[in-house]
Amino acid sequence: MRYGHFDDDRREYVITRPDTPVPWINYLGTEGYFGIVSNTAGGYSWHRDARLRRLTRYRYNNVPPDTGGRYLYLRDDITGQYWSPSWQPTQTVLDEYECRHGLSYTVIGSASGGIRASTLYFVPRGETLEVWRLTVTNERARHAELSVFSSVEFALWDAQDDATNFQRNYSTGEVEVDPGNGVIYHKTEYRERRDHFAYFACSEPLAGFDTQREAFLGPYRGFDRPLAVERGRASGSIAHGWAPHGAHHVRLSLAPGETKEVIFLLGYWENPRDAKFEAPGVINKAMVRPVIERWLQPSTVAAGFADLTAFWDELLTVLTVDTPDEDTNRMVNIWNAYQCLVTFNMSRSVSLFETGISRGMGFRDSCQDLLGSVQLAPERARERIIDLAATQFADGGAYHQYQPLTKTGNDAIGSGFNDDPLWLVLGVAAYLKETGDTTVLGERVPFSDGGEATLYDHLERSVRYTIDRTGPHGLPLIGRADWNDCLNLNCFSQSPGESFQTAENRAGGVAESVFIAGLFTLAAREFAAIADLAGRPEDADGYRADAEKMAAVTAEHGWDGEWFLRAYDHFGKPVGSSRNAEGQIFIEPQGMCVMGGIGIFPDAGGQEGPGGRSVPLDRGSTGGPARGGEQGPPEAGSAPTLATRALASVRERLATPHGIMLLQPAFTRYHSELGEISSYPPGYKENASVFCHTNPWVMIASAMVGDGDGAFDYYKRINPSAREALSEVHRCEPYVYAQMIAGRDAPTHGEAKNSWLTGTAAWNFVAITQWILGIRPELSGLRVAPVLPATWPGYTATRRFRGATYSITVRRGQPGESRLLADGELVEGTLVPLAAPGATVRVEVVLPPGERDGGRDRTGEENGGYGETAACVRDG
Ligand code: BGC
Ligand code: NOJ
Repeated sequence: MRYGHFDDDRREYVITRPDTPVPWINYLGTEGYFGIVSNTAGGYSWHRDARLRRLTRYRYNNVPPDTGGRYLYLRDDITGQYWSPSWQPTQTVLDEYECRHGLSYTVIGSASGGIRASTLYFVPRGETLEVWRLTVTNERARHAELSVFSSVEFALWDAQDDATNFQRNYSTGEVEVDPGNGVIYHKTEYRERRDHFAYFACSEPLAGFDTQREAFLGPYRGFDRPLAVERGRASGSIAHGWAPHGAHHVRLSLAPGETKEVIFLLGYWENPRDAKFEAPGVINKAMVRPVIERWLQPSTVAAGFADLTAFWDELLTVLTVDTPDEDTNRMVNIWNAYQCLVTFNMSRSVSLFETGISRGMGFRDSCQDLLGSVQLAPERARERIIDLAATQFADGGAYHQYQPLTKTGNDAIGSGFNDDPLWLVLGVAAYLKETGDTTVLGERVPFSDGGEATLYDHLERSVRYTIDRTGPHGLPLIGRADWNDCLNLNCFSQSPGESFQTAENRAGGVAESVFIAGLFTLAAREFAAIADLAGRPEDADGYRADAEKMAAVTAEHGWDGEWFLRAYDHFGKPVGSSRNAEGQIFIEPQGMCVMGGIGIFPDAGGQEGPGGRSVPLDRGSTGGPARGGEQGPPEAGSAPTLATRALASVRERLATPHGIMLLQPAFTRYHSELGEISSYPPGYKENASVFCHTNPWVMIASAMVGDGDGAFDYYKRINPSAREALSEVHRCEPYVYAQMIAGRDAPTHGEAKNSWLTGTAAWNFVAITQWILGIRPELSGLRVAPVLPATWPGYTATRRFRGATYSITVRRGQPGESRLLADGELVEGTLVPLAAPGATVRVEVVLPPGERDGGRDRTGEENGGYGETAACVRDG
């Protein structure tokens, strides 16, 4: 069943009943001021840092869920009846209800007893404030005398402290109310070291206000029945300590058919330290007042909203596709791109599953987010790259997380997650491919432990970090954990409640990760191409040789017989092997080793032999200067390779209709030698859920071996729009990916959790756009190498890339027919050379007809390697 529907023309998801299985949220803000808003107006706001600069309060784990937010109440002053036009918090039954989540805005509309109300929430670009524009229409045949009440609960800035340190905080709260215009200023701690305050303003003359929460709500009452609303009168309270609050009271008198608009502003402002006060203790409002006055004007609000819409219009023209599949179009053109930018902004810090308190920006998370967002925000990606590199240490290691406000690493979690540095290489490679801006490599960036070096040097140290840390089999040491934060092979935690991420590890841990081996092979090749680009061919040769060596070691020691092993534990025993009773096969190395090019091609003569199984490694995937010819995927029907066998094992053992599980069989008991992974009940999270982040790796790997049907099949299984009809099972938002979907072992198989902030967003975007549709930025041009499902007749797309526009048409031709034309000229291979900025290039790709061949698309072989083939790792 569904709880709403997509409105693709308006790029909105329309929720048609308020009681969704969990709150379905959206994000407000695009740069520095942000908020989350649920479909019933729940949520909260912050400036830059959800932990350290929290504007409004929110209680997680509340009952009913999602209580507290950006509330408006309407009251019929003749009958005394009142209701929430967003359903929450009064939960009064509404005659009509609709929430439209759009791109960085939300509109909640409803009708009750002949009064229609609609509230638009958004953050104007370039401002540190949010607008709530309420429109009220009297659809009754008679006059309506109404009261509008607004309500926000201010947080005392540091969200962690705000939720815990009451002995101090109940005494620090301070507000001011401007007698002239009724603006409520929240200024807790402004008297001392804070130079910032929050404000809450209203466009209409006030009938009253409250700033002390208990005065507004009344003793022992919740937001569902505030005393002020019930009696139709605010009390003019001024908060001293306790809980500063913002509430306005406006009276509206509406003739039949009449509409009125009321604008509320919630904002953040910082004054220069030497100009904080206009009188002792009184906020200097000279700078903020004009901003407030401007944004209380309906015309400013209308223009600001138009500007926000234009911003998204423009951004989304970077890539538009028209494929035979509606769910693909909707996700690629709208929602997946949107989620990529949101994850770029938030990392994993704030959602309804992340409190904004516990984590800042994750190092590996933010690096991966770049892959899906660099085309949308290249300048910000550049800045992010520098910020991330600045949390590295001189040995190449990195802080696992950093705080966005201070941009310094979090000591509480520290470092030692041995995959972290390698992701930076992938992030920078993506940036270089998208922008061609090689100047970034020369940027000087500090290390957290002193000294500084160029970004190129940082990257080199990132790669060396792995080379310098290998174990008994020559595979990379895992450290605290690799991508899988819960595979803690050196930890052996036995104390309840101890964090697996920070618990002291056993000294001299020699556990090794096959996943890092795959990631290293990929990253070292990417770095080699970067080295070529930087004019350092000797570096490039050296790192290619290292990649080749790692590929050979992996083929020898990281192969279990039918799939890639996951790891060797602290005692040198295999993890993710048919020899294990539980956790025999893991998804991560199957995807990543193939992406690293390991085991894609058979040896010459079609035989497999150790070390001879990797993609020829002289071809950097970053696409630097040409060092070799193109090569498509192995020919269909050729001898199975490690890659095809690993992928077949994934399909056999891990695939479910709800996506591909992380491992099987699930761990049924706690294994202290494996760590947190076995702490989850079977089917959840890292213990055998469909951990969506990893699924696109298998999609990409499938595309790399030419299996378009397989790749797309996996894509559809977890595509949220394709799962919309299952909303009562899936339960999370159908417009964004969730981190996980409960696996086959869980009683709730198919139920999603942890929506919004997940690397799933970036990787699915990469999988569908770059590998299945095959539109792939490279250093020397735009590759167009689709690996489509056999039934697709083709697709069209437009891609803006380095200032030029590529208008792409892919269609099927005759058997054996296969070519790529750029502006009518035949192009050898699949790489469309860079066009001059401003140019429009017509790209036509003709593929042979698709055929089904046991799920395997064979068209690649029929045209000698070009056409519907994956250009897995090619350069110019
Ligand atoms: C979760 C992981 C997460 C880790 C670090 C674990 O409990 O299962 O997904 O990466 O915590 O926050
Ligand atoms: C979520 C974390 O944010 C991410 O960094 C990690 O890779 C996955 N969980 C898997 O453990």
